[in-house]
Amino acid sequence: MHLPSQSTAVADKNSDRDVRPIGVLDSGIGGLTVVSALRRALPNESIYYLGDTARVPYGGKSPSTVQRYSHEIASLLLRENAKTIVVACNTASALALPTLEEDLPVTVTGVISPGAKAATAATRNEHIGVIGTRATIKSRAYEHALRNLNSAVRVTARACPLLVPLIEEGWLRSDVTVKILMQYLQPLRGDGIDTIVVGCTHHPLLRAAIQRLLGDSVTLVDSA
Ligand code: DGL
Repeated sequence: MHLPSQSTAVADKNSDRDVRPIGVLDSGIGGLTVVSALRRALPNESIYYLGDTARVPYGGKSPSTVQRYSHEIASLLLRENAKTIVVACNTASALALPTLEEDLPVTVTGVISPGAKAATAATRNEHIGVIGTRATIKSRAYEHALRNLNSAVRVTARACPLLVPLIEEGWLRSDVTVKILMQYLQPLRGDGIDTIVVGCTHHPLLRAAIQRLLGDSVTLVDSA
């Protein structure tokens, strides 16, 4: 999906600006929340978005499969002349960022490090929760990024594998979804976190329910 910049073509002709698109990749459509944030921050940039809806979800797949898929999607973005690549998918960021950075001829930005920075800046009691896919949580990528920034930080991480299928199904307000969410979040709440990284592109669609279940004193940080 090519999203042209919000500026005029005349402005592009008269400036030295690099008009090639920013490439954004995700395992599906969840990364469009990241695209909205990018468009707000960089209204003059055009964006080429590729969501791998044919092979979503990535969250239950092996590291080597996620790496292979991420490299394939990134190659397609390069073919569209992307000048830089944003990996909006947390699972791909957790498992494939180092090899993408190594292999691609353009800069690559994932969501783990920015999310960890925002969370360490937000926490007051240095106790941060992380939710995400099984693959993201198993990789401990957020834990490492958070501890690199602040070695005193305590991290309580929880994989929430049932949330992506429920969200894909459109069951955003269903009682079943809220009950499952409660089951996932209860231990984090009981553990005393004051900040949570919503570490999956799908999860912000449940933002209101997550905030309600954790209470207003907990700060939510998402990939966007
Ligand atoms: N895009 C994935 C992520 O942010 C969530 C969906 C999936 O499992 O592919 O981790």
